[in-house]
Amino acid sequence: MSKDLTSFFKENYKNKNLYFDEYMDNCLYSKFGFFNTEVVRSSKEGDFLTSPEVSEYFGLIIANFINEKINDGDILEVGAGTGSLAEEIVKHVDKNLYLLESSKTALANLKNKKFQAEEKLEKFSDKNIDIIYMNELLDNVPCAIGVNKDDKWYEKIINTNKEKFEYDLAEIREENYEWIKKYNLQPMEGIELEIQLNSEKLLNSFIDIFNPKYFLIFDYGYEYKDRDKKPYASLIRTYKEHHLSSEPLELPGETDITYDVNFTFVEKYFESKGYKVELMLQTNFLDKYGFENIYKKLKQNYQKFSDIEKLKIKSQLVGLEAIHNERGLGGFYTLVAEKI
Ligand SMILES: C[S@@+](CC[C@H](N)C(=O)[O-])C[C@H]1O[C@@H](n2cnc3c(N)ncnc32)[C@H](O)[C@@H]1O
Repeated sequence: MSKDLTSFFKENYKNKNLYFDEYMDNCLYSKFGFFNTEVVRSSKEGDFLTSPEVSEYFGLIIANFINEKINDGDILEVGAGTGSLAEEIVKHVDKNLYLLESSKTALANLKNKKFQAEEKLEKFSDKNIDIIYMNELLDNVPCAIGVNKDDKWYEKIINTNKEKFEYDLAEIREENYEWIKKYNLQPMEGIELEIQLNSEKLLNSFIDIFNPKYFLIFDYGYEYKDRDKKPYASLIRTYKEHHLSSEPLELPGETDITYDVNFTFVEKYFESKGYKVELMLQTNFLDKYGFENIYKKLKQNYQKFSDIEKLKIKSQLVGLEAIHNERGLGGFYTLVAEKI
């Protein structure tokens, strides 16, 4: 895999800049990309475990949110992965659920499971979508990298002409510079900036087509005011088989390239589009929409039932605790945007 992508980059970017977002896009979503190989990556057999894979109650709690917020209208999940979350949501919500998934492997699997799933958003343009939700999607949307030197912004590019790929700096593209200014992201000494213009474009396409009442977004991330507390120059990292992996340029197509989402940008984005935004930790979202009741009931059942049942309930309790624990998945951010 890696060899195919390496020669693709070498041939196509001999005489033009390869910006990091283009590199990341190809590494994840091209024919030879990470998300288009045999396994669905967000599964036990894959490379990382997400909240819906860890606990079925993540879906139940999101269903509680949906049922509280809307009476009619349909729902769209973006980046549905294995479909575990969707499977739980449809058990508890009596509305049409549509899935968007750009990985061909994952899409085929979702269609096998009889979901209404598509790769292209336009396929759903006649639907009346009131809630769009996504878990661990934005951290996989290709970003560019801004570097500030002597008060001037540059962009990281990848030099593919040497034996090993290397970073270089180039003049920043105008729209990326505008993005930094728009969100007033001041440079910080020794810190690179993940430029999430592609996320903005993706969110724009949802609003343009559906103008939904709600967005519900879960992901790992940070607020820009706290950026300097993170001890890394770059927030970009890679995963392979459930472990942190190599430097992003080392194994193109073989690792998941991801980064912490800048929730200050996401918050400002939705406010600028006429949404009221609530930003909280995942643990607080779970508390707000029913964690305590579910947890108590499981504990009571644990006391009541026999050995085999006990084992099952124990594993459900462990999963529920894992998505709630602030030092783990519970420490992720949840953003609720409501159209005003
Ligand atoms: C980290 S996985 C998370 C999967 C699932 N949401 C979960 O929580 O287990 C990200 C998923 O988003 C998909 N994806 C990335 N960009 C997308 C886009 N623009 N539209 C639809 N799906 C996308 C990827 O193919 C991948 O399956």
